[in-house]
Amino acid sequence: MATATLSEVMIPRSKALAGRVALITGASRGIGRAIALELASRGATVAVNCRSNLVRAAEVRDEIESAGGTSEIFQGDVSEGLGARSLIKEVFDVYERIDVLVNNAGITRDKSIRKMTDGDWTEVIDTNLNSAFYCTSAALPCMIERNFGRIINVASFVGQAGNFGQANYAASKGGLIAFTKVLALELAKYNITANVIAPGFTATDMTERIPLEVMEQIKQRIPMHRLALPEEIAKAAAFLICDGDYITGQQINVNGGIYM
Ligand SMILES: NC(=O)c1ccc[n+]([C@@H]2O[C@H](COP(=O)([O-])OP(=O)(O)OC[C@H]3O[C@@H](n4cnc5c(N)ncnc54)[C@H](OP(=O)(O)O)[C@@H]3O)[C@@H](O)[C@H]2O)c1
Repeated sequence: MATATLSEVMIPRSKALAGRVALITGASRGIGRAIALELASRGATVAVNCRSNLVRAAEVRDEIESAGGTSEIFQGDVSEGLGARSLIKEVFDVYERIDVLVNNAGITRDKSIRKMTDGDWTEVIDTNLNSAFYCTSAALPCMIERNFGRIINVASFVGQAGNFGQANYAASKGGLIAFTKVLALELAKYNITANVIAPGFTATDMTERIPLEVMEQIKQRIPMHRLALPEEIAKAAAFLICDGDYITGQQINVNGGIYM
């Protein structure tokens, strides 16, 4: 087997994803936005998905384009099979390929199990877990055809450790971790890797809602005593996508030490 030359190893960071198309679900804000910008900075063409927030999605697209990148908005609700599958088709119709899929869209509907309704449960499972199945299964044929794919599922430390008031969310993220391992097993032969990024508490709209006093308690629980920045999560995703050719079925915890 031939080894890489120095010039191959030293591909500039900005070129690593040149010619690749990356779809990031839920890329209008927070972690998805940061991943979209990070992948664009490495040369990827970025399909920015959002459910409804077209203004924020347009800001992400404009930021990419003003830095010389290529990006387009694809609005669609990935919590429904129909919405997710037509999203994948629309991206494919425009770019004729999807090399990187980041299943990032997610929501919380926190309540103790005694108060949790069927709706709270189903909405979170549909958005955080079923969406990943819909998008991945729809994107697979074009990845298999090209013998290349990088799938990142954005889970959470809550899917590993559990968290009070988050039975629905923990189940969705734990399911995502198990789902990723099966993808890794089944798809390795097509040069498609599947990995999990498991963030800890991260400074986004999702954590903005947490009352101040609760947030202080949370910070005390985190060995690094602060939330992650979305950009810190994005760097780990970019590492797996750009440099993780032989990494599959793994979880990278970017959590300040809250779960080891
Ligand atoms: N923040 C944290 O502390 C933290 C920690 C661990 C894991 N995570 C995970 O990281 C991911 C991103 O979280 P975040 O904090 O960045 O969230 P966020 O700031 O609330 O952003 C959520 C994103 O998901 C999109 N979205 C929600 N439902 C959707 C649907 N049905 N179809 C398409 N897009 C949908 C939203 O689109 P619109 O703007 O159109 O609504 C938005 O772009 C989630 O999976 C979350 O569970 C977050």
